Amino acid sequence: MKAILLAGGKGTRLRPLTIHTPKPVVPIFDRAFLHYQIDLLKQVPEIDEVILSLNYQPRRIEEIFGEGAGTGVRLRYVVEPAPLGTGGAIRYAAQGITETLVVFNGDVMTSVDVNAVVKLHRDRQAKATIVLTPVDNPSAYGLVETEQDGSVRRFLEKPNPDEITCDTINAGIYVLEPDTFDRIPKDVSYSIERAYFPSLIERKEAFVAYVDRGYWIDIGTPEKYIQVHHDMFDGRFSGGIFATADRSKPIVSPDARIEEGVTFAGASFIDAGAHVKAGARIGPYSVLGRGVVVEESADVENTILWPNTRIGQHAVVHGPVLGRNCHIGRNSVVKSSSVLGDKTLLTDYTTI
Ligand code: GDD
Ligand code: MG
Repeated sequence: MKAILLAGGKGTRLRPLTIHTPKPVVPIFDRAFLHYQIDLLKQVPEIDEVILSLNYQPRRIEEIFGEGAGTGVRLRYVVEPAPLGTGGAIRYAAQGITETLVVFNGDVMTSVDVNAVVKLHRDRQAKATIVLTPVDNPSAYGLVETEQDGSVRRFLEKPNPDEITCDTINAGIYVLEPDTFDRIPKDVSYSIERAYFPSLIERKEAFVAYVDRGYWIDIGTPEKYIQVHHDMFDGRFSGGIFATADRSKPIVSPDARIEEGVTFAGASFIDAGAHVKAGARIGPYSVLGRGVVVEESADVENTILWPNTRIGQHAVVHGPVLGRNCHIGRNSVVKSSSVLGDKTLLTDYTTI
């Protein structure tokens, strides 16, 4: 069995963070996002290869994962000549594959039991099995209605408010049979959500839902990107460093440098090579990426700092996400959940 991770989107809703960092590899704490999905797929012993379906800035993704040595799975990259949409990308990546496929949208963080999903697919002899998750407002997702027996009755991508009939949405995780892919046209953009899934229902093919009530989030907006960090700090989701970390105190890499007189309040994470200078305060929900420098008496709280960003002396930074290599000048004040792209420079004494 093979897995395909759809990792070709532009990540427009996460701009400016995704201008130089494709969404599938934005850091979640100390690791590129796709690592968490690969960890989940490793729980399925039958999966012998993970295919990354790429289009936007594929080299940046390949640089991170290489041949897959650091991931413990066999990795292969398939780069579309042009974006083919979710359905077109799956067909393109699945060329020559006849065995059952597990497919993930490359931006969903979840604890779903993939083995159980595969088992349901097999037991029901389905052509397609889709994981559903309940959400408060389905309008940003694919709404999925099911029958009593768990088969899918209706799939409606991005429903209007008056079209919302239930709370279950497409979680972006599928088990698919490639013998259904001949309906997907070659070389043009084709949506699995708007065309392929509705076609299964029209043709009365076995299309089954697996409802999962465990952790699930799409990290593709700034609000959700911040949320997933809070959820991991608070223990609503465990993965990566939080699989083993002691949540009762700040998590500080042994290769970080914390000077005397730094105060910590609440949960925070400080990666290797970071340097926090005397008198600084690191408040709750702070993430300091590799090589971040927090100068004397600066105050950082509820903030995600990507690698190599520097916070000047006496600056107060509460709430934002800052890309790589930013510099917040001394005595500056940032109190908002703004998202500032790589290399942002705030001159001394700026207030946002
Ligand atoms: N290779 C490739 N080519 N990947 C693509 C392309 C493409 O042309 N277009 C999108 N993707 C990838 C994105 O990188 C992302 O990982 C995934 O496909 C889904 O695209 P999004 O743009 O994130 O879609 P969405 O979040 O609005 O909606 C989708 O996900 C929801 C769950 O989060 C849909 O599948 C909804 O039905 C679903 O509820
Ligand atoms: Mg998404």
